[in-house]
Amino acid sequence: MLERLLPQPEDKIIQLMALLRDDPRPAKIDLGVGVYKDASGHTPVMRAVREAGRRLWDSETTKTYVALAGDPGFHAAMGRLVLGDAVPPARLAAAAAPGGTGALRIGFDLIHKTAPGATIWMSDPTWPNHPALASDLGLKTRDYRYFDSATGDVDFDGMLSDIGSIPDGDVLLLHGCCHNPTGANLTPAQWDKLADVLAARKLTVLIDIAYQGFGDGLEEDAYGTRLLAKRLPELLVAASCSKNFGVYRDRVGVLLAVIPEGTEHATVQANLAMLNRLNYSFPPDHGARLVQTVLNDTDLMAGWQAELEDVRLSMLGLRKQLADELRRLTNSDRFDFVARHRGMFSRLGLSPDQVARLRTDHAIYMVGDSRINIAGLNANSVPILARAIAAVI
Ligand code: LMR
Repeated sequence: MLERLLPQPEDKIIQLMALLRDDPRPAKIDLGVGVYKDASGHTPVMRAVREAGRRLWDSETTKTYVALAGDPGFHAAMGRLVLGDAVPPARLAAAAAPGGTGALRIGFDLIHKTAPGATIWMSDPTWPNHPALASDLGLKTRDYRYFDSATGDVDFDGMLSDIGSIPDGDVLLLHGCCHNPTGANLTPAQWDKLADVLAARKLTVLIDIAYQGFGDGLEEDAYGTRLLAKRLPELLVAASCSKNFGVYRDRVGVLLAVIPEGTEHATVQANLAMLNRLNYSFPPDHGARLVQTVLNDTDLMAGWQAELEDVRLSMLGLRKQLADELRRLTNSDRFDFVARHRGMFSRLGLSPDQVARLRTDHAIYMVGDSRINIAGLNANSVPILARAIAAVI
């Protein structure tokens, strides 16, 4: 049987991690996978998460199963973090999942179960795992215009026009904030306009929000998600805690389902639990419990928010430094968008050949579409990157 398996195309981001690991050059710069690194290149355990871990170690007396959909306390805490008071708890069903990908998987499963013929419309470009997950379930995907590579900003008119031609009953996948891979995001005014358009349509909307707090702030980054939760009769949201709590390997995510008025909450909740059961039975609890502990404790929450804000501001500082340096070295405003972008990523608009030369000649690693992880830089490596970019363009 196993001999019938076909070779699998490797995910480009994961492939890049392996290339980097095998590169013996000591001065290599890793701008690949979306993992936050501090100025010394370390991915720290956040202080509030460490303290929550200490408390859990002291207080946890059992490792028995919790519940198929995870701990309701985690659902409530994540519901508040992501959705604020946009919807009453009675309209919120939820399932804890292994990371944002686990939450997306459950979301796509739900779509497959309820609308197997629907097409999922994704931004062009999007995170490569989005189409991969959908096609693994046999779901059709199509693109809508999103990124204007000439300006480095969102092609909002193109996006609205493409959304206008999506047939009723299809699914629209949106990035809640900090668009991956481009770094170009909707303004609040554009979210308002999009909400008006979507409120008049019959599309299912799924929002992937994996970087809340990395863009303009925790509240600001949730603006579009909360707005659509208020304006649309139903909404699916896949949220990840990997980045904003730094709990990557613990795999913490949640699928939130805002259910329409009049729909039986228990039925939706039971379906989410069953999808977890079919995929992995009980979701991992440890990381979710750390997150829940932080979110439910005033002091830990304040400490976490302050540390997250430091992370956000450090990335903004690096963005400005890189944009300034590139403006100086290229004598042009071509890369000014780097300072306008938000989140971990920016797509620089370099050719695959230029990206390859940065890797071979300068030991600088970025994804082939020229996506860089800003957090892979520090004040010393920004000028090195800028010089290398100026040399290859
Ligand atoms: C990324 O886009 O680099 C991250 O979301 C990590 C991943 O799993 O791809």
